[in-house]
Amino acid sequence: MSQVLRDARRFEEAQESYISEESRPAFHLSARVGWMNDPNGFSWYDGQYHMFYQYHPYDSIWGPMHWGHAVSPDLLHWTYLPAAMAPDQPYDRDGCYSGSAITMPDGRQMLMYTGVSCETGPEGQKLEVQTQNLAFGDGVDYEKYENNPVLTERDLPAGGSRYAFRDPKIWALPDGTWRAIMANNNEDGGGQMLLYRSPDAIDWKLETVLVRNMDRLGRMWECPDFFELDGKQVLLASAQDMLPYHLEYHNGNGTFYMLGTWDEESKTFTEECNHSVDYGIDFYAPQTVLTPDGRRVMIGWMQNWDTCNLHTDSVPWFGQMSLPRELHVRDGVLYQTPIRELDERRTGKVVHRDVRVEDRWVVLPGVSGRRVDLEVEVVPADPEKVYEKIAIRFAQDDCHQTFMSFRPKEGQLKVDRKFSGSRRAIQHQRRANVRHDNGTVKFRLILDRFSAEIFVNDGEKVLSTTFYTTQSADGISFEVEGAAILNVTKYSLEEV
Ligand code: FRU
Repeated sequence: MSQVLRDARRFEEAQESYISEESRPAFHLSARVGWMNDPNGFSWYDGQYHMFYQYHPYDSIWGPMHWGHAVSPDLLHWTYLPAAMAPDQPYDRDGCYSGSAITMPDGRQMLMYTGVSCETGPEGQKLEVQTQNLAFGDGVDYEKYENNPVLTERDLPAGGSRYAFRDPKIWALPDGTWRAIMANNNEDGGGQMLLYRSPDAIDWKLETVLVRNMDRLGRMWECPDFFELDGKQVLLASAQDMLPYHLEYHNGNGTFYMLGTWDEESKTFTEECNHSVDYGIDFYAPQTVLTPDGRRVMIGWMQNWDTCNLHTDSVPWFGQMSLPRELHVRDGVLYQTPIRELDERRTGKVVHRDVRVEDRWVVLPGVSGRRVDLEVEVVPADPEKVYEKIAIRFAQDDCHQTFMSFRPKEGQLKVDRKFSGSRRAIQHQRRANVRHDNGTVKFRLILDRFSAEIFVNDGEKVLSTTFYTTQSADGISFEVEGAAILNVTKYSLEEV
C-alpha cells in the first residue's frame, strides 16, 4: 500500500471520532471526513452493497481526489471502510476521478476509474490529462493494475479531447464480455458519450460514439450510466454549463436522462426524449446499481457544483448522497421512488384524514420532526373552485423554515430554502412544472436532518435540497390559500 493511501486511512480513522452521529444524516451516506462528491463504484459485491465516492479527506472542500468507501446491507445503514484509493501513481497523481465497479469472473472486485495527471499548457495553464485505469481488490484493499492506463488518448475518436475523457461506467454483457460508457469532449467543446467493448474487462476498444450533445444540454457531459429498463434504453448524464430551458433545465450544472431505443446490430441509440433527473437544487452525478432482486436503483450526489458554498464551518464533513431511488419507466417518464427498504424504518404512524384548510395555516398534532416520511394528498375542497396555493413548511422554528409550495393554476411547485440558515447568495429556490388533476396532487417528503427530497405524484418528478438549520427547527405546518382537503400520513424515520 502506498504511503499516500496509508496516510489517508490513518487520517480518516483519527478524525472520524470528532464527528458525532447526530451531526450527520441518519440514513443518507455522508463523507466519512472531509469532502465528498460523486458516487463511484456503486455495486453489489460479496453479499453487500458497496459505495465508493469522490473524496478529499483532508478538508471539507474539493481537493486531490481519493476514493472513499462504505458498505451496506440495505443502502440505508452504512458502514465506512478504509479509503480504497489515493492519488499515488504517475497516471493518477492529481486525482482518482469517478468510475465504477464490477465483479470479475475470478471473484475479485474491479474498479475502473479516471486517473488525472496535470501538464502545463502553452499559455502556462494547468491541463488535466485524463486516462482510464483499473484496480483489483477483495472488497477492502485494492491494487492498481500494473499495466495502467488501459485507455488513453490513443483510444479516442478523432477530435476527442485527452483533457476531458472520464467517468467510465462498466457492465457485463450476457455473453460474458464487457461494455463501458464514458464521457468525452469533442473538438467543438461539446460533450459526447463513448462506448467501449472488452472481452476481459482489461483490453478495451472503441465501439461507437453513442451520442453527441450538438450544442444543447450544456457543454461537457459527465458521469454517464446506460441501461435497459422497462423496455426502454436509458442514458443518465450530468452536464456542465447548461442554459435554462423553461423549467426543465436550469443554468449551470444539471442532470438529465434520455429515453430511447438501442439497436445492438447497428450500435445505435435513438433518443426519444430527455428530461431533468431531479428538479430541485442539490443533485448531480447519479449512478445506478442492479440489485440482486433485479431492481434498478439510483443514488446521486445530493449537492451541486453551483451550490457547494452552502457550508457550515462547524461540521467537518461536506457532501451527502441522495436516497437510493428505485427507477421505472412509465409513459415516457423516468419514475423514482424511495427504495422500499425505507418502509421498514418507518415508525410512529400519524394519520390525519379530510383536514379542511381554508385561507390559513395549520399545525397537525404529531406532525413534526427532522427525520420524517410525510405523505400528503391535496384535493380541492370545491372542484368548481380550485385552491390558489398549498405550502408545506418544514424544518421550521421562529426564524427558520424550508418550504415547498404548489400553485395549481400555474401548475408549478417551488422548493425554497432561503430561510434555512444560508449566509451565501447562492441558489435557494427552484421551480418545476407538476401535473395535477384539477388541483388533486400527491407529495411524499423525506427529511433526514439536513435534506428534503420531494417525490411528486408517486415519483413522476423529484426535487431535492440540502439545508443546515439547527435540528431544533423541527416544525411542520400546512398553509392553503383558498380551500383544500388534506390527507396526511406521517412516519418518523428511525436512526437504527
Ligand atoms: C463530476 C466530476 C466528474 C469527475 C469528478 C471529479 O462531478 O466533475 O466528472 O470525475 O467530478 O471529482
